[in-house]
Amino acid sequence: KKSYNIVVLPGDGIGPEVVKQAVRVLEAINTSSPDVELKLSSYDFGGCAIDATGEPLPPATLAACQSADAILMGSVGGPKWSVGKVRPEQGLLALRKTLGLYANIRPASFASPSLVESSPLKPDIVRGTDITVVRELIGGLYFGDRKELGAEPKPDTAWDTMIYSEEEVKRITRVAAKIALASNPPLNIHSVDKANVLASSRLWRKIVTETIETEFPQLKLDHQLVDSAAMLIVYNPRKLNGVIVTENMFGDILSDETSVLVGSLGLLPSASLAGAPNLDLKPGEKPPPGLYEPIHGSAPDIAGQGIANPIGTILSASMLLRYSLGLEKYAKAVDEAVKKVLDDKSAGGFGMRTKDLGGESTTSAIGDKVLEVLKTLL
Ligand code: NAD
Ligand code: IPM
Ligand code: MN
Repeated sequence: KKSYNIVVLPGDGIGPEVVKQAVRVLEAINTSSPDVELKLSSYDFGGCAIDATGEPLPPATLAACQSADAILMGSVGGPKWSVGKVRPEQGLLALRKTLGLYANIRPASFASPSLVESSPLKPDIVRGTDITVVRELIGGLYFGDRKELGAEPKPDTAWDTMIYSEEEVKRITRVAAKIALASNPPLNIHSVDKANVLASSRLWRKIVTETIETEFPQLKLDHQLVDSAAMLIVYNPRKLNGVIVTENMFGDILSDETSVLVGSLGLLPSASLAGAPNLDLKPGEKPPPGLYEPIHGSAPDIAGQGIANPIGTILSASMLLRYSLGLEKYAKAVDEAVKKVLDDKSAGGFGMRTKDLGGESTTSAIGDKVLEVLKTLL
């Protein structure tokens, strides 16, 4: 049996609630698979780690992540820790940076066509949209080095710096291009920046253009300014179908916005990788550990109520199986089970919806049904 070591970081707020359902999915695969063994172990991370140890990313958690085959995370943060000097979010940024996870892949495609009716936008606007945001994850404003760049702010000021090197732009462009090429026909690439104002965006635009023209001349590339891109996502999103490649903070903001197209923030998964996903990974090949998490946060407003949507986390587990473990067969089964749970009855599904999608199903009821369907597919 091929054995994989998966570190689970439930985190804060709804994190543990949604992770629990994704863990059940991985455990079901572990139990019924004759060829793979998934070894899951949980560690403190985020606010709960601050409470336990004083730091959001304790050394034992980091060490476990570094030696894992893949990491499944819920979410971190919350009002309890938002005013402290040490914040849960710092642990997440440190984990991404330390593992070199520069490529954050956030697909916003319909988990079920029935969800067209659940989007707060008109069906005619959202139908047929399929956008994957490829977000640069360890550069830009989030990481502009405060020490190297001069004095700390005067008492009445604060600053952040957006820096990108050519190499950082080049490597994320290559990831976006490889994702585009994995589809047949290849997807279009939309690079999003603010080149009319920011020097870092002018470098971004130049390097993206050069990289695509010289290394991927078969791909179609256009450039959008971030403000009008934000408008297009809700006005005519099909125009942005394909891959959006963008810097860290623009990608953070736009990916939450794309979730509205397919119904809810609670639906979207993500993979954070140290390179292009191994779309054609052979069973047994080991890429560097990837971090898989829903794109949403700890949702303090609904935490503890058992109503959070677990689908984004379950689909993150599917991305984990696909990209880090090369277990396409199981990833497909999970996607199919999720689809069936969401599909309307007229399409042969169960039409289940959590509250964020206008329904009444609980987090665990969705998990139960996904498991029930999954077991028939394994
Ligand atoms: P959020 O994503 O936690 O919540 C935004 C809104 O979406 C809320 O109304 C929430 O109830 C809803 N929502 C989110 N996920 C949902 C789900 N699975 N099911 C149903 N509804 C869902 O954003 P926020 O409120 O701005 O941030 C709360 C905390 O989470 C902050 O501390 C923030 O830093 C943190 N955060 C963490 C991560 C992460 O760990 N990756 C990501 C985003 C935000
Ligand atoms: C996300 C979150 C994080 C980010 C925060 C919690 C640091 O919003 O994963 O989208 O901004 O990257
Ligand atoms: Mn975010």
